[in-house]
Amino acid sequence: MPIEPVLTKRIPLDPAQRKTYWYDDYIATGGYASLRKAIDTPPDELIKIVTDSGLRGRGGAGFSTGQKWSFIPKEKKGAHYLAVNADESEPGTFKDRYLLDYDPHQLLEGIAIACIATQVDVAYIFIRGEYHRQAKVLERAIHEAYEKGVFGQNGVYGSKYKVECHLHRGAGAYICGEETGLLEALEGKRGWPRNKPPFPAIAGAFARPTVINNVETLCCVPHILERGPAWFKTMGTPSSPGPKLFGMSGHVNKPGVYEDSLGITLDYAINTLAGGMKGGKFKACICGGISMGVLGTNQLDVKLDFDDVRFKGGCLGLGTAGMIVMNEHTDMVLALRNCVRFYSHESCGQCTPCREGSAWMRKILDRIVDGRGRAKDLEMLLELEKTMGIMPGTTICGLADGTAWSTRTFINKFYDEFAARCPDEPTKSVSLKVTRGRMNVVTPMGSNTR
Ligand SMILES: Cc1cc2nc3c(=O)[nH]c(=O)nc-3n(C[C@H](O)[C@H](O)[C@H](O)COP(=O)(O)O)c2cc1C
Ligand code: SF4
Repeated sequence: MPIEPVLTKRIPLDPAQRKTYWYDDYIATGGYASLRKAIDTPPDELIKIVTDSGLRGRGGAGFSTGQKWSFIPKEKKGAHYLAVNADESEPGTFKDRYLLDYDPHQLLEGIAIACIATQVDVAYIFIRGEYHRQAKVLERAIHEAYEKGVFGQNGVYGSKYKVECHLHRGAGAYICGEETGLLEALEGKRGWPRNKPPFPAIAGAFARPTVINNVETLCCVPHILERGPAWFKTMGTPSSPGPKLFGMSGHVNKPGVYEDSLGITLDYAINTLAGGMKGGKFKACICGGISMGVLGTNQLDVKLDFDDVRFKGGCLGLGTAGMIVMNEHTDMVLALRNCVRFYSHESCGQCTPCREGSAWMRKILDRIVDGRGRAKDLEMLLELEKTMGIMPGTTICGLADGTAWSTRTFINKFYDEFAARCPDEPTKSVSLKVTRGRMNVVTPMGSNTR
């Protein structure tokens, strides 16, 4: 049984009935009641409520939101900032767009509560450049919120908490979704991720303490305040509580955004929420944006929460829960080539393993797709993926881990399909030796020095 909608309670499943809830519509349906409650609750207590709810970030990493807020220094020595991550550039991910399109004040209410809890003066919503419509919706909603006394120097609904809110439009780079790349871009610089420490909670935007949260994460906050942490934990699993938006795309009959509990199975997501497979039997599913890797043919029973996808599913994690479902006719070599082409294009170039490794992987995959694959290519791809990422400790940000995990899971779970495109013969007959700077190419026809 699907849960009673929480984040999407103002968004009917039938697209024909959907409309944007502006300020008055939002108020008429109970909106901003939690913000009024937050004004009368001590900031520490707000952080405790969110920590007790077990809310984990919906932007990909699944870090505890309450804990993140608690890292912001309690003693205020200057400005604090909130950066709202509405970059949503992870392939297969389109759930934040849904919330922005129809219920922008739900986000603004979450923002205002987060600002009170962490003593933030200014919130910046960083929205991806391609989200033209959503940027317009947000501009109008922010304007309304200022007029109605949510934001501005008169204090949130006349209280002592003064919060400003600005929209910042990105220029269309995937790397600006990474939190410190986002901060650099916000400061008007090239979106290059920063080395950590210092972490943003200590030195973030403009070198001041900064909270960074995803749109869906902040949309959960008013509901937690309204109905309490215990209610939030009635949904989901003990380690991954709450509702979640699942973005279903690919070979399913009813692609779209569906809200349900964390911890539903992949089988349920495909067959109950998304109307079943289209065009053939299930083969694979990219489980949380392409950076998380792929779930294989026999993994329909994996639970879609932050732990099961990782420990049982063998992926990096649940990520954004942007699911790309693939049927039996999908060419996995082509699918992986697409993913790696994306990473090699989007790598910001600061770290050698990511910049060179992803380009090298793309070349190898191009060769395999063109029918010139060699057995050694698979070994090389698997060796390269092991060398890149925050996890092996060779790169600044997680884009490289995304490249590694998609490559690793695609090849390991669909090894035979890759191996069939990489026969042994060419590597047996051609060998390269470099002697005193000259390359000696040994072919079946003899040796040729050049
Ligand atoms: C390459 C890369 C791209 C990312 N893109 C996004 C994004 O578009 N939106 C997002 O919310 N988080 C994205 N993240 C995760 C953010 O760095 C950060 O963890 C998140 O915004 C924190 O918010 P949360 O705790 O509410 O999830 C990305 C991370 C990486 C490594
Ligand atoms: S891992 Fe890649 S994208 Fe991230 S900072 Fe390094 S080069 Fe840039």
